[in-house]
Amino acid sequence: MNRMVRKAYYFFLKIKNRVLGRPAGSDIRGTFRRSTNGGYNLFAKGSSLINCDIGFGTYLGRRSSFSDSKIGKFCSISWDVVLVKGSHPTTFVSTHPFFYSRDCGGSKISFSSKNKYEEHKKTKDGFSCVIGNDVWIGCHVLILEGHHIGDGAVVAAGSVVTKDIPPYEIWGGNPARFIKKRFDSTQVGKLEECKWWDWPVSKIKANSDHFTSISDFCGFLENDDEALK
Ligand SMILES: CC(C)(COP(=O)(O)OP(=O)(O)OC[C@H]1O[C@@H](n2cnc3c(N)ncnc32)[C@H](O)[C@@H]1OP(=O)(O)O)[C@@H](O)C(=O)NCCC(=O)NCCS
Repeated sequence: MNRMVRKAYYFFLKIKNRVLGRPAGSDIRGTFRRSTNGGYNLFAKGSSLINCDIGFGTYLGRRSSFSDSKIGKFCSISWDVVLVKGSHPTTFVSTHPFFYSRDCGGSKISFSSKNKYEEHKKTKDGFSCVIGNDVWIGCHVLILEGHHIGDGAVVAAGSVVTKDIPPYEIWGGNPARFIKKRFDSTQVGKLEECKWWDWPVSKIKANSDHFTSISDFCGFLENDDEALK
């Protein structure tokens, strides 16, 4: 019976995706507005993606939310991972928006005729947050605006990200700090060069056995004429 229900659900999804013009395998159970996705994504119940660009295979757990962000392929984003948007000036006499924001987010009152403080920080490419490919973010993580999390990075459960995180590093805590590197710099160089996440899915699938050992994977790259091109 379970199998029948699952089959019916996936059939319904397929039709829904086709009608909405979404890529195959899109299972969108949360809010998904003005956003694009690469396919085979699961966005769990209560999640929210607004004005985001999400790569192939990336999934979001329950109540995780991002906006104005770019998230790469093959990312595993757990539950309650939230991009924290907006900031107040801590060096002004008052931190209240009446003193620096002209419209105060739609409020009927303001003491300022112009905006005197930049409430939103952006990455250098203009996003609220950029997450690379194959990034794992543990549960209950807050990411402050304007940061970049590199390819292959890991963010520990319960962290508060206040800085950019370089590729293939594990960071954690509040504020999140460097914990350790996942691989040595030669290995990271090879991963960044081959960009396996951009390979055809058929190639990734055919060689998936190499993905459980970095030395095996690097050995495979050496013998693969196409991999480092
Ligand atoms: C980050 C994480 C992957 C590290 O795992 P690991 O490689 O096995 O590392 P260790 O457990 O050996 O910990 C390494 C160090 O990081 C610290 N650390 C581990 N988790 C941490 C966390 N959440 N916050 C802060 N520091 C953390 C450890 O205390 C240890 O510090 P020490 O070297 O001073 O003793 C893991 O702790 C984690 O947070 N996983 C997320 C789990 C999760 O959210 N699951 C939800 C479903 S996906």
